[in-house]
Formats: sequence, structure tokens, C-alpha cells
Amino acid sequence: MEPSKLSLPVCLILILCCAWIHVAHCTTRVSEESKGDGELNALCLSAGPFQDQEYSNSQYGTVADTNFDEDLISCIKTLDGSTVKTSDMETLKNGLHECQVIKKDVGPYVNCTSRNLKRVPSTNFPPHITVFNLSDNSITKLAARAFSKYSLLRILSIRNNRIFKIHPLAFNGLSNLENLDLFGNRLTMNPVTMNNAFTDNVFAPLKNLKELRLNRNNPQPDDRALRYPDKALAQLSNLETLFLDGFTEPVFGSGFANLTRLKYLSLSGYREGYCKLSGLKNETFRYMTSLEHLLIRECQLQGHKIEAATFLPLKKLYFLDFSKNQINVQFFDRMFYGLQNTNTLKHLHMEFVVNLYTLGVCLSSKYIKYFPQSANI
Ligand SMILES: *[C@@H]1O[C@H](CO)[C@@H](O)[C@H](O)[C@H]1NC(C)=O
Ligand SMILES: *[C@@H]1O[C@H](CO)[C@@H](O)[C@H](O)[C@H]1NC(C)=O
Ligand SMILES: *[C@@H]1O[C@H](CO)[C@@H](O)[C@H](O)[C@H]1NC(C)=O
Ligand SMILES: *[C@@H]1O[C@H](CO)[C@@H](O)[C@H](O)[C@H]1NC(C)=O
Repeated sequence: MEPSKLSLPVCLILILCCAWIHVAHCTTRVSEESKGDGELNALCLSAGPFQDQEYSNSQYGTVADTNFDEDLISCIKTLDGSTVKTSDMETLKNGLHECQVIKKDVGPYVNCTSRNLKRVPSTNFPPHITVFNLSDNSITKLAARAFSKYSLLRILSIRNNRIFKIHPLAFNGLSNLENLDLFGNRLTMNPVTMNNAFTDNVFAPLKNLKELRLNRNNPQPDDRALRYPDKALAQLSNLETLFLDGFTEPVFGSGFANLTRLKYLSLSGYREGYCKLSGLKNETFRYMTSLEHLLIRECQLQGHKIEAATFLPLKKLYFLDFSKNQINVQFFDRMFYGLQNTNTLKHLHMEFVVNLYTLGVCLSSKYIKYFPQSANI
């Protein structure tokens, strides 16, 4: 064989050899460094220059463009041949998804939405961030002190993730948090199977919390074992607004008596959350005396399952919406019995509360004898 014909295959073999040595070297480094971290596999990827500039948008530029699965990345080589340390790899893994720090009126805002994150990034964002948006990811657990670096956080959204476990110390340090959005996770409120997500003191650090969304977490809201975690919620003494799924014949336990500022409660179903609240009992709202707005839309509420004194404790009710339920007019007397003496109720929304195929309804005076006189409909 002539030397010129030989050179190509030899060259290829040499390159492959080099590559193999590279991979072997890297594999060894990673398995040494990753002892105790079961998620690191031995796989090498050439990832482009890794720069340790914090917070800039282009920081992980070349890496971010590639679309490989986070779990596959375990050993990341920089182009200059040095191996990235495990701690840097963690940053790089998060960096792959390029959370952005944006300046907003409310203050520094971290945008981590739709980054395919499986956990809260351990990246050091600026400590004075005020909004942390982690919505639309695949986070499953909140670890102890997951946000304690950010004591000035006011808004935290972990909406639409897969959270089923919350460490009892997960929210430590968040004494300035005003708004927590956990809509659309897997935090079912079954005291037996809910993995202790709602331990009694889990919300205790959130002394300033005003708004909490926990709806769309119970895909089977008619499961009779479901209970609102009133002991945990009782710690939120400044809470004003609460979104929950509507359980069948729910009772809001004595812990709610501590929520003396709770003004707005939504239990609505369909686009909002899950609601199969078929009935309401005299004791349902017993401890909810501060409520002003109550929304029970699209819940499959049935007139014959409403006990007459249901709304009696709601002495401050201003706005009631029970649209799109099958109450039917003959049960209006039960519905309104508890509201007959109210002078605070101003807004009453009750569209689509009779059978959808009914052409017209005659409201006999018998049905509306308790109708609240103060209300606009
Ligand atoms: C956050 O990032 C997502 C995905 O890149 C983008 O679609 C969205 O507009 C960003 N939001 C803000 C407030 O910048
Ligand atoms: C978080 O991001 C989602 C998706 O972009 C957006 O709908 C939501 O309003 C954001 N939340 C906050 C508090 O900015
Ligand atoms: C009620 O709220 C106060 C703070 O206002 C708190 O100290 C107390 O532990 C709460 N009670 C319960 C039963 O959680
Ligand atoms: C609920 O209250 C109404 C009105 O006071 C009363 O007639 C009814 O018996 C009560 N129902 C139950 C189950 O206690």
C-alpha cells in the first residue's frame, strides 16, 4: 500500500484511539467524583466552553443549544480538555436550561419556566431576587431550605410541576413571601398517602403569605378520604386568598379558625381546579367566618345535598358564585336560608343552576322566600 492510501485509515484509528482514551479518562474521573450521587452515569459529552459568568443570558451558550436529556449528562468535558467538577456540573446542568434573571418593577425576577427541570436549581441566583418562577417543569420534591438563600422572595411559583413531597423545612427563610403558587402538582390531600406533604409546621415560616394556590392537586376530588390540611394551613395567619380543590361534602376544620384574614376562597372546578363538591353541610364553613368571596363554580353541587344552615356562619359574605351546578330552583330555599339576614352580600352569581334542558323556570315565591334582599344578581 502506498503511504498516501494508508494515511486516512491510520489517522482515523488514531483519532478513535484518542477519543477512547479521552472517554475512558473522563469516565474514571466522573465515577470517582460522583460517589454517593447515584444519578451520575458514565457518559461523556463534549459540551463546549464552560464559562463561569454568573447570571448572563449567554452564559452556557453552546451547551444550551443541544437538546439532550438531563439524566444522560453526567460527564461534561470542556473543549480545553479539563473535566468539569461535579459541583460545576450541577450548575451546568441547570445552566443548560438557562434560567434568566430579569429586571422587573417588582425587583429581580428569575424565569425558570419550561426548562425541563427535575429539581429546584442549586444555582446561586442573586440573593435579593423577589420573584422565582419555576412553573411548567418536572420538579417532584421540595428539599429542606430549598429557597432559604432568597429571603426577600415575595412571589414563588412552582405551578404545573409534579411535586408530591415537601420537606417540613422546605419553606424555611421565606418570611417575606406573599404569594405561593402550587397549582397543578401531585399534592393530594389524603392524610394516609400524601407523603406528609402538609406536615403541621410546613407553612410556619410563611408569616407574610397572603395568597396560596393548592388547587388542581387532587384528580379524584370525590375520594372520601381527602381532608383539607387545616393544621398546616392554620400557621398562615395572614392568608387572604386561598384556592383549593372542592371535595365531596367538605368540612373546613378548626384550623381555619386561625385564618382570621381569609377573605377569598375558590373551590371551583373545570378550568380552575378539580371539584366534585356535591353537598354542603351546616358545619362546612363553621370556622370560615371572615370569608367575603366564595366561589363554587362547576362543582356538581346538588340542591338536595345542601343543608339549610350552610351559609349561616358567613356573616361577612359579599360575593357568592355557584354558577354551573345543578341546584334547581326547588332547593333555593335551602341555599338561601342561611343568607336571609345578610346585609353584606352584594354579588350573587348563579348562571346555569337549573337543568340545562329546561326552557324556562317559574320562580315561585316559596322558593325565594329567603332570597337575600341586598344582592345584585
Ligand atoms: C420565561 O421564559 C420562557 C421560556 O423561555 C419565555 O417563553 C417567557 O416569555 C419568559 N417569561 C418572561 C417573563 O420573560
Ligand atoms: C410564571 O410563568 C408562567 C409561564 O410563563 C406565567 O404564566 C406566570 O404568570 C408566571 N408567574 C409569575 C408570578 O410571574
Ligand atoms: C395560629 O396563628 C398563630 C400566629 O398568629 C400561631 O402562633 C399559632 O400557632 C396558630 N395556631 C395553630 C393552631 O396553628
Ligand atoms: C342544618 O341546619 C338546619 C337549619 O338550622 C336544620 O334544620 C338541620 O336539621 C341541620 N342539619 C343537620 C344535619 O344538623
